[in-house]
Amino acid sequence: MTRISFPKDFVWGTATASYQIEGAYDEDGRGLSIWDTFARTPGKVVNGDTGDVACDSYHRYEEDIALLKQLGVSSYRFSIAWPRIIPQGTGEVNEKGLDYYRRVIDGLIAAGIEPAVTLYHWDLPQALQDKGGWDNRETIDAFLAYAEVVFKAFGDKVKSWITFNETWCVSFLSNFIGVHAPGHTDLQLATNVAHHCLVAHGRTVQLYRSLNLPGQIGTTHNLSWSEPYTTRPEDVEAARRSRAWGNEWFLEPTLKGSYPSFMVDWFRGKGIEVPILEGDMETIGQPIDFIGVNFYTGGCTRYKKDSGLFDSEDVQVGFDQTFIGWNVYPEALYKVLSWLHEEYGDIPIYITENGACTDDHVAEDGGVHDAQRVDYYRKHFIQCQRLIDSGVPLKGYYAWSLLDNFEWAEGYAKRFGIVHTDYETLERTPKDSYYFIQKVISEGGFDV
Ligand code: NOJ
Repeated sequence: MTRISFPKDFVWGTATASYQIEGAYDEDGRGLSIWDTFARTPGKVVNGDTGDVACDSYHRYEEDIALLKQLGVSSYRFSIAWPRIIPQGTGEVNEKGLDYYRRVIDGLIAAGIEPAVTLYHWDLPQALQDKGGWDNRETIDAFLAYAEVVFKAFGDKVKSWITFNETWCVSFLSNFIGVHAPGHTDLQLATNVAHHCLVAHGRTVQLYRSLNLPGQIGTTHNLSWSEPYTTRPEDVEAARRSRAWGNEWFLEPTLKGSYPSFMVDWFRGKGIEVPILEGDMETIGQPIDFIGVNFYTGGCTRYKKDSGLFDSEDVQVGFDQTFIGWNVYPEALYKVLSWLHEEYGDIPIYITENGACTDDHVAEDGGVHDAQRVDYYRKHFIQCQRLIDSGVPLKGYYAWSLLDNFEWAEGYAKRFGIVHTDYETLERTPKDSYYFIQKVISEGGFDV
């Protein structure tokens, strides 16, 4: 038997995002975001679902905080909706929007839970998209103005800030693959968006430093791991390109102030240039206090001429999969974070999201028996232990998600919560995974 045990000061938390849980889309002066528009566009979201009501956390946040308290977490990661704070993207500040987050932050602190706030989890004000969105550098200035309002309002109480959530999704998934808002399919545009978000990140860090606030700031990238299918050099190279698109393309600018040159050359071969202006790379590479990593999956990749962007294809080698079709590959968490540590040094790491989608139902006994999710968490916690034992500065872990919620293009059909949401009654029911995590936290570990 082996004891998996976490350091006393290890941060345990859960994560959510504004559009996915809040609902109340037109209350108290909230402006519209690109997700309101996208979700209303026929064919974009499964079943035509929208975030209009979601989990109604705008009204039920006290219940959510009680669930967090009972779970025993020391931190809660959530995002602020820019369109609640500055409804038109620029200009007038909406005090009622700030009031909502003040209630949430004060409620968390009263419950002994540290708020960890994401400034941008995808709900760009529609008014800014109408002027080009993140393709337009003016959006960077608008973001800075929004960040300043939020820092000034909450910078004394919130000690952990994340500028952007998953810049790869904001850029390539949303503007090249096109399955997230705003839904474009243009590689140059997506490359511009990625770069401008990175610049906005760097400038936000500079702004935060200039305000002398008593907390830490970083950003969250979604990382995954493509293993070469064979040791053949062409497979190794194909897997490397595929990994680098999601990993180095974002980590290297953030932590070293440069883009990976082999990828710049690869994109150049496709006629794509990064729109770098003087000073940008230095701005992006501002020192940060930690790096957030969202991790869900990995897989095997091999070379295939003229396939996709990278002459590569994913190969199935028999991984178990979750209900959303993602491989369960816990060792990939160990691999990618060991690599990150080796490549970028001792920057503190937080796993800002990790979790599984399963097909959950409330059982006759009133419980939700999400055995596959429990197993997923257990296996990933074991990899966290390996990382800590290896000397990787892994400081905390946030389960995605506290609640079943609006899973973007998948709508409500895909559940990631450790608490079940009944979308008819909005009733919350803790699942077996909730009780598993509760036990791990209270006992400081578990036996395998
Ligand atoms: C990453 C995103 O940050 C989050 O919003 C999403 O729900 C989860 N992954 C699951 O797909």
